[in-house]
Amino acid sequence: MKGLFFVEFSHTALSLANLVSTVEETPDPIPTTIKGTIPSWINGSFLRNGPGKFEFGEDRYTHWFDGMAMMHRFHICEGNVTYSSRFLRSDSYVQNSEKNRIVVSEFGTFASPDPCKNIFERFFSRFQIPKATDNAAVNFVKYKGDYYVSTETNYMRRVDPQSLETKEKVDWTQYVAVNSATAHPHYDREGATYNMGNSYGRDGSSFYNIIRVPPPEEKEGEDSAELNGAEVICSIPATEPRKPSYYHSFVMSENYIVFVEQPIKLDLIRFLLYRIMGKSFNQIMVWDPQCDTIFHLVNRHTGKVRWNESAAHIFIQCQEVQSRKCIHSWFYNSLCRTLPRRYVLPLTVDEDTPLDQNLVTLPNCTATAKQTKPGELHSDELLQYGGLEFPHINYDKYNGRPYRYFYSCGFGHVFSDSLLKMDVHTKELKVWRYPGLYPSEPVFVASPKATEEDDGVVICNLLCISFQDKSTFLLVLDAKTFTELGRAEVPVNIPYGFHGVFNEMG
Ligand SMILES: [Fe+2]
Repeated sequence: MKGLFFVEFSHTALSLANLVSTVEETPDPIPTTIKGTIPSWINGSFLRNGPGKFEFGEDRYTHWFDGMAMMHRFHICEGNVTYSSRFLRSDSYVQNSEKNRIVVSEFGTFASPDPCKNIFERFFSRFQIPKATDNAAVNFVKYKGDYYVSTETNYMRRVDPQSLETKEKVDWTQYVAVNSATAHPHYDREGATYNMGNSYGRDGSSFYNIIRVPPPEEKEGEDSAELNGAEVICSIPATEPRKPSYYHSFVMSENYIVFVEQPIKLDLIRFLLYRIMGKSFNQIMVWDPQCDTIFHLVNRHTGKVRWNESAAHIFIQCQEVQSRKCIHSWFYNSLCRTLPRRYVLPLTVDEDTPLDQNLVTLPNCTATAKQTKPGELHSDELLQYGGLEFPHINYDKYNGRPYRYFYSCGFGHVFSDSLLKMDVHTKELKVWRYPGLYPSEPVFVASPKATEEDDGVVICNLLCISFQDKSTFLLVLDAKTFTELGRAEVPVNIPYGFHGVFNEMG
């Protein structure tokens, strides 16, 4: 089997290797078999991204994150579903294919110098700054009305959300002074996109930058990728200039952006040395228990960093990983659990505020200004599902506003093995779980006549442990009851992936 190369695989994980095996692409849409009922009001495409090719010639990627990006499209229309997929034709994919070996380093895989080079060339290539990959396997994102696939480097790839064809490579550095951007931007209700990326000064300083890309405008002339009008609205100096924090995402409310500077650090000195030593990017990440976790609060309308606002509170709900080891190991779920946490930032704190006063007066909130206890946002029941990952809310209507429900994957296994709906008011958990089935990130789609937050469906794709049976399907759950409405069985294999979006435009 092609999948059995991950160095961290234990014996128990071997059968799961099928879920991360190389597959063929399906460029032309193929029909699926519908069981149950797919509601006829769902019209659009469920787009998903993730790794789909794990070797070139004799070379194999040593980390799940590193596989070549494969885009998947479930087109849902009038109760029917078709499926198609394509590999992203990134420069990494094309160059690796041409050389039939891995020539571009990825997150956990170091590309060795070309053996065809002579010994001096190979020696000096160690001292070159490694080229960032454009293997954008993490998410589908939207800027100025265009779809892109994204990873966490300075490159994105514009793609056609219908045909899944690869379009231009976009380099963030051509628009704003950042060296990277996350794969999890936020969108406001006017269509602007916000993201964050790092920059590095010549004096050794590091900054976390908040980027704003304006809403789409009337396009004149040809169809092309452009981020014109993108601007850095705030630069936050890293607390440790040579060790900026790693971050995967950030928080946005109606008026603020909250950036959590965490003790997981990118060691820039190690970054230079590790290149010489032939190590991969994940090995420059370090956990520094001496560092505090710092919440930076930025007014997203003015770009000002502020604390003393007249507004009452900001709710932040996020996941908290209970181990520092997860980023280093592909077999991460044996090492950590991710649980939901709520932080409330009181905004009216000054030096006269008494220490023994609970500053949080919001309804449906038991957090205090002093400290929230672990476990407050969930009952112990969540632990039996292994914690959660891939949380989603009714984003279009509730992002930045108080919401009651989130949907996520439970991780009772190395892969997600349940779907969870959490009521953050009552802490009630609704669970969809069947042995041997491994769901992807659940995405909420509101029904056209929705009046309540959870009026709609939750969609995801399901993988089966007996992967060779080609028993992959798109699952549609009633979001309110969390029960199955229908499924669309796909007659080809789909590997386990990362993130997805629902594209109402088809
Ligand atoms: Fe992510």
